Amino acid sequence: MSELARKIANRIEKEGPIPFSLFMEMALYDEAHGYYNGDPFGKDGDFFTASQLQPVFGAYVRTLSESLVPQYECLVDIGAGREELRESFGHKNYHAVQHGQKIPETKNSVLFSNELIDALPVDIYEDGELLRVSCAGPSFAWYPHPPREGVKEERPSLRPHLEEAWQSLELGCYVIIDYGYRRNELSRFPLGSLMSYRRHLASEEVLQEPGARDITAHVDWDQLMEDASAAGWKVESFGSLRASILGLGEEALARLYSLGEMQFKTLFFSLGESFEILVLRKS
Ligand SMILES: C[S@@+](CC[C@H](N)C(=O)[O-])C[C@H]1O[C@@H](n2cnc3c(N)ncnc32)[C@H](O)[C@@H]1O
Repeated sequence: MSELARKIANRIEKEGPIPFSLFMEMALYDEAHGYYNGDPFGKDGDFFTASQLQPVFGAYVRTLSESLVPQYECLVDIGAGREELRESFGHKNYHAVQHGQKIPETKNSVLFSNELIDALPVDIYEDGELLRVSCAGPSFAWYPHPPREGVKEERPSLRPHLEEAWQSLELGCYVIIDYGYRRNELSRFPLGSLMSYRRHLASEEVLQEPGARDITAHVDWDQLMEDASAAGWKVESFGSLRASILGLGEEALARLYSLGEMQFKTLFFSLGESFEILVLRKS
């Protein structure tokens, strides 16, 4: 058993079976051994994100920011990973927020996150009952049973996150890019959308090797919009990443293409179709 697995097992021995959100929090973000203490991005890691498509993705986010908030103060990149967007904005206009850090107070900024929400811990409910994680010999198991058809996923930290983001800003936008589903598509995930990634391979074994593999769940966009509205945000737009890139206009498209043909094609044709973008505004 790894040190982190032992730490989680000790917690379960003391408290009894724990909510999945606590298991996920410890697996990904434990201060000493959590998965995100390492560098999981890129070819030698476990997965790619759009942020590795530099300079094209950075130029897209910058053009979008300028169109949404013309006199913006800075880009606040929440869940910034390797902080790869910094180069497109420059030190003065870029602020990275890593796990455990507070969102800085700004007057007129663009808050931004790419693949943050899918990495916020989730709880799994079945008929209103919370499914938990218990120990099973040297490993972990669902308690009282694994997720079955009709389970519901909830992110306990989502609403507080949207409230913190809203309070941090006087005026501006929060741009959220991620992958997810609308409620009328829920039948795509009869057993829930939890997924784990290791060495670019997806697996449903989310309880195995905590700390050594990524754990994610698709974003429930309707829930996100409801929570955002309740926190004070106005939902300005929602759609595919590709539609958002197209919406920047011909000149911007040609410029992005000229910065890197392959990067542009990957962003536009591949990620553009599977990722969505939500723009929230505080005015
Ligand atoms: C899937 S990675 C995406 C990283 C980066 N945005 C990118 O596009 O490559 C998720 C990131 O969110 C960070 N994170 C998770 N919860 C957070 C929180 N509450 N506040 C700030 N960052 C958080 C993780 O540490 C990790 O760096």
